[in-house]
Amino acid sequence: MGKMIIGIDIGSTTTKAVCIENGEVIHKTKTKAADAVTSATGAFGKMIVENGVKMNQIRKIMITGAGAIKIEDELFGISTGKTGEFESIGIGGMFLAGRDNIVIANIGTGTAIVDARKDHISHMGGSGVGGGTILGLAKKLLSTSDFNGIMALAEQGRLNQVDLLLEDIMGSGLSFLNGESTAANFGKMLDTARNEDIALGIVNMVYQVIGMLSVFAAKSRNTDRVVVTGNGSGNQIGKKVLNMITELYRVTFEYPEDAEYTTAIGAGLSALQD
Ligand SMILES: Nc1ncnc2c1ncn2[C@@H]1O[C@H](COP(=O)(O)OP(=O)(O)OP(=O)(O)O)[C@@H](O)[C@H]1O
Ligand SMILES: [Mg+2]
Repeated sequence: MGKMIIGIDIGSTTTKAVCIENGEVIHKTKTKAADAVTSATGAFGKMIVENGVKMNQIRKIMITGAGAIKIEDELFGISTGKTGEFESIGIGGMFLAGRDNIVIANIGTGTAIVDARKDHISHMGGSGVGGGTILGLAKKLLSTSDFNGIMALAEQGRLNQVDLLLEDIMGSGLSFLNGESTAANFGKMLDTARNEDIALGIVNMVYQVIGMLSVFAAKSRNTDRVVVTGNGSGNQIGKKVLNMITELYRVTFEYPEDAEYTTAIGAGLSALQD
């Protein structure tokens, strides 16, 4: 019997597959498909073919994510198991961060916050605000569904055209916030606001919400670090917004490499734990 473990995360937007051998991630792949079975078998097949993996090298397939419920049987005659999404985020997050006892903000289509300790993983809560919010609002407000296009617009945006800032209402800062802090996301919305400004307003709002939730979650666990995972971990504008939150609240955000594969990696590694 082979010793490779395949982890598949059927997310609401993208499906990720990884191959783990001897506790190391040796292959990874991403796909997008309309239904769970097509995306799981597609991601799996793509990874196998691209890397020349033989079926008899695989010991087990572990599936997680929103679409996992749709997979009922063994895939290709290989022993197939399912594992919880939050458990997988916790295990994968600890693996990528290289330590335990961490708070994880997983930014996918929506956002989940997970408290991960060596022997106990719990879902603290989260928010429906996430990457899907960016795509959905941009579709209507900017008439585009192209993620990179939205980010290119946001790069050129001016927040003071859409957000009501503290300096707009008080002429200065308030408490520990400076005058450029948002008082109300989209609370100004000038008639002259351009698509660039709206794009920035959307991304800024999403990451401000996630950042503040993360701050409160971290503080409630007496930590000053949050590990950011999911596809949203790689968003450059998002990182700038989170950096500003770090300056104000002294909670640091960490972006591990391969963070978009966290859930798939955790699913695969969970097979080694029992
Ligand atoms: N090139 C890209 N194409 C599409 N979406 C992208 C791209 N780059 C980043 N994203 C963002 O990633 C989000 C999806 O992230 P991810 O794949 O982690 O979610 P998921 O696992 O499918 O969803 P969930 O975990 O919430 O069920 C999209 O909503 C989008 O905002
Ligand atoms: Mg996900």
